[in-house]
Amino acid sequence: MTRTVKFEGRPIWAEVSLGSLTHNLRAIRRHVNPAGGRGARRPRRKILAVIKSNAYGHGIVPVAQALSRARADWFGVTCSAEGAELRESGIREPVLILTGFWAGEEQRILENHLTPAIMRPEQLRLLEKAAARSQKVRGGRKARRGPVEFHLKIDSGMNRLGIHPSEIPAFARVLAECPHLRLAGTFTHIASSEVFTTEQTAEQEVAFDAALACMRSLGLDPGIVHMANSAAIVSRPSTWCDMVRPGAILYGYHQFFEPPELNPKMEAKLSVRPVLSFRARIISIKQVAPGARVGYNGRWTAASPSRVAVLAAGYADGLVRVLSNKGRVIVRGQLAPIIGTVSMDLTAADITGIASARVGDIATIYGTDGGTTQSVPDVARIANTASAELLCALGKRVPRFYLP
Ligand SMILES: Cc1ncc(COP(=O)(O)O)c(C=O)c1O
Repeated sequence: MTRTVKFEGRPIWAEVSLGSLTHNLRAIRRHVNPAGGRGARRPRRKILAVIKSNAYGHGIVPVAQALSRARADWFGVTCSAEGAELRESGIREPVLILTGFWAGEEQRILENHLTPAIMRPEQLRLLEKAAARSQKVRGGRKARRGPVEFHLKIDSGMNRLGIHPSEIPAFARVLAECPHLRLAGTFTHIASSEVFTTEQTAEQEVAFDAALACMRSLGLDPGIVHMANSAAIVSRPSTWCDMVRPGAILYGYHQFFEPPELNPKMEAKLSVRPVLSFRARIISIKQVAPGARVGYNGRWTAASPSRVAVLAAGYADGLVRVLSNKGRVIVRGQLAPIIGTVSMDLTAADITGIASARVGDIATIYGTDGGTTQSVPDVARIANTASAELLCALGKRVPRFYLP
């Protein structure tokens, strides 16, 4: 049965199942902390929930609040603005700014007790300056107690962000001149954790281990060590370290493993539930004659008498334009092909085969209706993209309803 959410306004909405979200968090926690897995004296592995980009479109504040109640250990965001939004909403857990900071963001980072990632040795000096300023005595009282904690990002072979292992000695020298800073964690990011046709991840693990050994040899304690994203959490226990950083699987989506035959085996290792459903209503139905063309530039032509449903959903809402003449929606439990060009606010679907369909019916873009499911990864395959890109495309004007 399709859930009916009652509200006034344009009939398009997203349902976010907080029950599925917290189920996924618990499933991940159990998966990376198998019974007898770490030895009695090692603490359990922590979970840093990646909630950047508005929690992959699901809504950063309600998602963080639900995950906080379910005892997520850390949160990961992209920038200080996202971190500040979490603090304003009452989130108290540590928040790591995964992509570091840009000069000028230091003050907001410190004021909100966020944990920045350091990507270049020079950034230490900027942070040290801000940290020293924040500890100055003001009105007879020290403004902030203790050093400012940060995590160091190592580039172990993705060649995107992070310090190269050869820069560690230089980093250590600069850090020794920064008394107001403390290295509290060290991490790297894996480029191809879902790809089992190359050795790239194994090579990154070797490079990261060598970087950690180099740090220790210089007397630097790396703090909390972390590297695993979703596919690595599912499939590569050797990457789990002290903490894991799930994004996609937290929202219920597995990555596309390579080779594709691996997908069923990998998905069976960790059972997650999709968190989001995305629906709109049919706002108009037209009967068209053979030869009639539908939508901008007439990119679909009726071959026979057809019923065309128009949905209150377009690419500005997140029904992406590449689904023109390619995607499908579910109406009354049946798949209806998207026809013609998806426009900004409207999309047409061929409902010729669904005789009972009426204006006001729900069209499910992602989710389940009447026993038929279309998942975000199903659509991502059709659109030739990643599930995360589709989720991030969910428009600001789409109301999100948070269900238990
Ligand atoms: C540094 C970092 N860690 C973890 C993640 C989560 O990745 P995924 O969604 O594949 O779990 C991301 C997302 O891009 C990231 O940038």
